[in-house]
Amino acid sequence: MCGIVAAVAQRNVQGILLEGLRRLEYRGYDSAGMSVIDAGALTRKRALGKVAALDAQLAAGALPGHTGIAHTRWATHGKPSEANAHPHHSYEQIAVVHNGIIENYERLKARLEAKGYSFTSETDTEVIAHLMFERIQQGLTLFDATAQIVSELGGAYALGLISTHEPDVVVGARQGSPLVVGVGIDEAFLASDPLALLQVTDRFIYLEEGDVVELRGLGEIRIRDRSGRAVERPVHTFEHGDGAAHKGEYRHFMLKEIFEQPEVIATALEGRLSEEGVLVESFGPEAQALFARARQVHIIACGTSYHAGLVARYWLERYAGVPVQVEVASEYRYRHPVVLDDTLFVTLSQSGETADTLAALRFAKTLGYIGSLAICNVPGSSLVRESDLTLMTRAGPEIGVASTKAFTTQLVALMLLTLAMGKAQGLDDAQRAEQAEIVAALKTLPRVCQKALALDGAIEALSQAFAEKHHALFLGRGAHYPIALEGALKLKEISYIHAEAYPAGELKHGPLALVDSEMPVISVAPNDDLLEKLKSNLQEVRARGGQLFVFAEESIGIRDQQDVRVLGVPVIHESLTPLLYTLPLQLLSYHVAVLKGTDVDQPRNLAKSVTVE
Ligand code: AGP
Repeated sequence: MCGIVAAVAQRNVQGILLEGLRRLEYRGYDSAGMSVIDAGALTRKRALGKVAALDAQLAAGALPGHTGIAHTRWATHGKPSEANAHPHHSYEQIAVVHNGIIENYERLKARLEAKGYSFTSETDTEVIAHLMFERIQQGLTLFDATAQIVSELGGAYALGLISTHEPDVVVGARQGSPLVVGVGIDEAFLASDPLALLQVTDRFIYLEEGDVVELRGLGEIRIRDRSGRAVERPVHTFEHGDGAAHKGEYRHFMLKEIFEQPEVIATALEGRLSEEGVLVESFGPEAQALFARARQVHIIACGTSYHAGLVARYWLERYAGVPVQVEVASEYRYRHPVVLDDTLFVTLSQSGETADTLAALRFAKTLGYIGSLAICNVPGSSLVRESDLTLMTRAGPEIGVASTKAFTTQLVALMLLTLAMGKAQGLDDAQRAEQAEIVAALKTLPRVCQKALALDGAIEALSQAFAEKHHALFLGRGAHYPIALEGALKLKEISYIHAEAYPAGELKHGPLALVDSEMPVISVAPNDDLLEKLKSNLQEVRARGGQLFVFAEESIGIRDQQDVRVLGVPVIHESLTPLLYTLPLQLLSYHVAVLKGTDVDQPRNLAKSVTVE
């Protein structure tokens, strides 16, 4: 989605803004632009396509100046084009960049046109520039004018603004879309994602909904809340260092993030397990009481996070005895859900800013749940701030659009939730022994994941078989059905091969008709109580001439042969196989995408954080 970077400093800001945009590229965008105040006048460059195209323009003619704003745009209103790229100007006095959607822009535009303002783009953003111009003409400061106009804007947005009337000021505003202030020494910055600013600072203020902020040339920062009151917000130090923004020795961020999994899984477990089992208080001081009271759980999420929720349903019902419903946020928020007494509401999100998930949480607050828990990777995100309980997944920044380490650390967090709910509700001896086995297995998980990643070379070789294919089927049973769904999502989003996932028992109810020698069928076959049934399903595929690719423990006796390629996955306690079997599927989709030559880290049409509905 769109990205914002802004700076006011004692030095030229073009380099800072450009590097900030490069660091936001992972979020997905289709054009980029920058405006800087130079000797009291606004200068601007915009380019369709990658930030490199903007860079080329800047190489041909720099934008010197100490105050500037920049943007990567992911088109919503109006096609990707230079004219629609941000920043938008009004009378070469005001420049604005904007993330999100102004829902009432048509009405505002009609009113401004009636007053004689003309528009040069098809965007919803340009109305903001003209509304600001009107106020500045009336003698208001940029800060006051912004505070006034935000009350007229409907929808969700984050804004960055500069004006020739105050050449050493940047103003920002946030309503439903993230915005952080970067705190420097005698300089200050604004961005939609702290990663954009790690080049210049590791100290951040996370703005609250409705905040308007003014940054001045010597690093002075003033914030007003939605009621117009001056407020102080805490300054947080970013924990993950600047390494997260670099690929290091890896060819793609996705590969780096796949290989980081043993380490981040260990980090996700750190300090949350004792000798006796899970520490329920890891979820917050209220967790013990809420988990003990909960009679059912609703889990809401989107995309990959939704798949993690589907795995959690199997876990919570089997190991904690708690009934669970899982639903995609975009459906849930427009239904009329019936919420029984003592239901806990759980959201899962890497970013904590996904518009549908956030809206679902806000909706849920009106429905009588006993409380809300967010399992999230981004501290300070909206979801985290607005939930009663939180558990951070600690995966560190995830740059690849295809979610990998965020998913497996969500699964770790969800297994901790399963253990914590079981414990809070009371365990009998058999359940206590089972929990002890799972806790012991969790402690070995980083090491076993490391072993699974050693399959990389074999999977790369296997990926050749997919390079010319147009479709693929993924099969799994039980808690591995969601893993098949996740495997199919990974393959389609980065290699653009059409992939579907089915619970293997559903095969003969329809999808078997698709199976022939051109249809690769990928199956995760852990050694559990459904294995024999799964083997029969795989025979059904073989009998129709299908080419099978099976991920399984070597001991289960499926032989590698011409029409069945078997990859041996290491052994782990059966509760954790959904997590372990995810890794080879991630590697498979990665290598197929590399072979197909797609843009692995920024697949077409997709954005990392979906902050619009
Ligand atoms: C996963 O590879 C996707 N990029 C996408 O499905 C993602 O998981 C979804 O948009 C939800 O994002 P969130 O976890 O940040 O809420």
